[in-house]
Amino acid sequence: MFRAVLMEKAEDGAAEARLADLDEAALPPGEVTVAVEYSTVNYKDGLCLSASGGGLVRVWPHVPGIDFAGRVETSDDPRWNPGDRVILTGWRVGEAQWGGFAQKARVRGDWLVAVPAGLTTRTAMAVGTAGFTAMQALMALEDHGLAPGQGEVLVTGAAGGVGSIAVALLARAGFQVAAVTGRPETESYLRGLGAARIVPREEIAETVKRPLEAETWAGCIDAVGGAMLARVLGQLKAGASAAAVGNAGGLALPASIIPFLLRGVNLLGINSVTVPQAKRVAIWDRIARDLDLRLLEGMIRPARLDEVPALGAAILKGAVQGRVVVDVNA
Ligand SMILES: NC(=O)c1ccc[n+]([C@@H]2O[C@H](COP(=O)([O-])OP(=O)(O)OC[C@H]3O[C@@H](n4cnc5c(N)ncnc54)[C@H](OP(=O)(O)O)[C@@H]3O)[C@@H](O)[C@H]2O)c1
Repeated sequence: MFRAVLMEKAEDGAAEARLADLDEAALPPGEVTVAVEYSTVNYKDGLCLSASGGGLVRVWPHVPGIDFAGRVETSDDPRWNPGDRVILTGWRVGEAQWGGFAQKARVRGDWLVAVPAGLTTRTAMAVGTAGFTAMQALMALEDHGLAPGQGEVLVTGAAGGVGSIAVALLARAGFQVAAVTGRPETESYLRGLGAARIVPREEIAETVKRPLEAETWAGCIDAVGGAMLARVLGQLKAGASAAAVGNAGGLALPASIIPFLLRGVNLLGINSVTVPQAKRVAIWDRIARDLDLRLLEGMIRPARLDEVPALGAAILKGAVQGRVVVDVNA
């Protein structure tokens, strides 16, 4: 038996999450069984934990949790052996199949990455999908020519998970970071992570009539989407890129084509779910090399499994700062 957050449909059709003891025989098929040690609460977890399953969960009962780290317990995959420390992010685990808010998970060997030297299962989940994606976005910007010394790089949704790690990574890599937040009380937190400038959310939350504004940003890691991303496109320097990571501020992109035509800006789509294995390893290795673990510690909000449903609701309201780390055995 193992403990898990289990979501079941109530009579009114709404899904409800509760703690349950489950039989290992209930785990989905897969080559590798993992004794989960830590998971995290990402924005997408908030969607999966909601009464509708966020449109992402279709089969009930369901164990959510889109990422986890732990030790291999048993493996039919020759690449993994009992005791190996592994990370899982993406591949629709926690959405289309059972995920990491549990003491055990069973997945395909192809989906796992070894915890890189320098990280533990706990710090790997402090990074989690949010931090993995922040690094993926930084690497995409660099691939499109971003380098230190070109000007300020904007991070939107800065006090959230993706945003916090993006600020820390960019600052450590020598970039001048401007952080957009709707929570003025997070200013000293964001400056501690390396933000040189705080941009109040309301300054940039709405689109304006002019499709081009002053060339301000050398790049952007955007966790918000919606009108804010549309506005940022008109403020990018010529040839600069914005990495579109998230939609915490909305799904629509009410943008003008003009910044693309007159300034040659780029909008880079970031999908962390199906990143090929070799690139996953490269992203994790660079995180282990370049993320300041002291700053990462300062982002952590520890949690137990029984706190997960409430934290899922909180993250959808933009009320979680930094990274939640769930100790599934606490
Ligand atoms: N593309 C991918 O593969 C991928 C991977 C990971 C995450 N994501 C997406 O990235 C986004 C962030 O994820 P996360 O886990 O970092 O969530 P998070 O911790 O909740 O961070 C989102 C942040 O966005 C800001 N925000 C929230 N609501 C807003 C609104 N209505 N208008 C403007 N800003 C708002 C808040 O920051 P402030 O309080 O500082 O303003 C909030 O902390 C989500 O949309 C998530 O689905 C995508």
